[in-house]
Amino acid sequence: MTTQFKPRVFSGIQPSGGLTLGNYLGALKRFAEQQGQVETVYCLVDLHAVTVWQEPQALLRQTRELAAGFIASGVDPEQSILFVQSHVPAHAELGWLMSCVARMGWMNRMTQFKDKAGKNAEKVSLGLYAYPALMAADILAYHGTHVPVGEDQKQHVELTRDIAAKFNHDYQVDFFPMPEPVIEGAATRVMSLRDGTKKMSKSDPSDASRINLTDDADTISQKIRKARTDADPLPGSAEGLKDRPEAKNLVNIYAALTGEKPDAICARFEGQGFGAFKPALADAAVAHLEPITRRMTELTADPAAIDRILRRGAERANAIAAPIVEETRRIMGMIPTR
Ligand code: AMP
Ligand code: TRP
Repeated sequence: MTTQFKPRVFSGIQPSGGLTLGNYLGALKRFAEQQGQVETVYCLVDLHAVTVWQEPQALLRQTRELAAGFIASGVDPEQSILFVQSHVPAHAELGWLMSCVARMGWMNRMTQFKDKAGKNAEKVSLGLYAYPALMAADILAYHGTHVPVGEDQKQHVELTRDIAAKFNHDYQVDFFPMPEPVIEGAATRVMSLRDGTKKMSKSDPSDASRINLTDDADTISQKIRKARTDADPLPGSAEGLKDRPEAKNLVNIYAALTGEKPDAICARFEGQGFGAFKPALADAAVAHLEPITRRMTELTADPAAIDRILRRGAERANAIAAPIVEETRRIMGMIPTR
């Protein structure tokens, strides 16, 4: 028997400090675009952030900044549910239950853990290892069906499907949906401005490698002007960008910002060098990001207003998640059947 689950979008971002153009194009902008068509639930995942050390005052500030980033990027806290993970008990509770469903062998295959732990696997927190089971619980606590994320999170959404399927099978129910990763658009993987083979990241030691949502117009233009490229002119179609990672990245960023197709952009700039393309890209980036940066600054100036929005978001999130967790416990034999 397959039950039809109501479509519901769920995604999350960690308040671990700083938002980049990669977060904006790969996540926030797409979160805003999903609104109106289906129910959208967006979570500031502080329980995930503390899997590595977070200074308490910094975590509080970063959580508000991230909320401001969501709203400034077009996530409307009326249309969407916007809230902080630790404010809704369902996440920690279902996180434990799902970590009892997930298998060690599955967790051992998670590439992000291997990347993050590196040679230090003995010293990282237990939470960092369990992180994907908590992420599965985030999604399943809302019966989320669609999960917009960047390329790097695909494996975690696939693990969520395995956990959901094992739960349904073990308890002979059709309770959890199989969520789908939604990875689309011109910029699911925005690359570093200094190295076209590395993803743009807030943790890159070089600030010149990324555009921050808090950068002003001059800084953005300067970073784009200095971005690494090759010496060849732009090709006539996107096909010609193959094996030119830096060039491809800049064209993809332009495409994602303006909505124009990479082919059309190449056709327009064919034969011109990056000396001509970069100023156009800088103009597009500034025009697009300036209002967002300004709105973020306005919003963060009133932390009490952000806290009110997040409190209301947590109430609405709890109203969906608490009954789903209660039903999970009932299925597992922790509370009597009605
Ligand atoms: P993170 O900042 O790594 O916690 O990621 C938050 C969200 O932004 C996730 O959905 C990521 O997949 C997405 N994201 C982060 N960096 C990039 C990037 N360089 N390109 C595209 N998406 C990204
Ligand atoms: N792990 C995700 C990241 O680092 C953040 C995240 C936590 C998430 N829970 C989620 C994303 C649930 C989508 C759905 O980017």
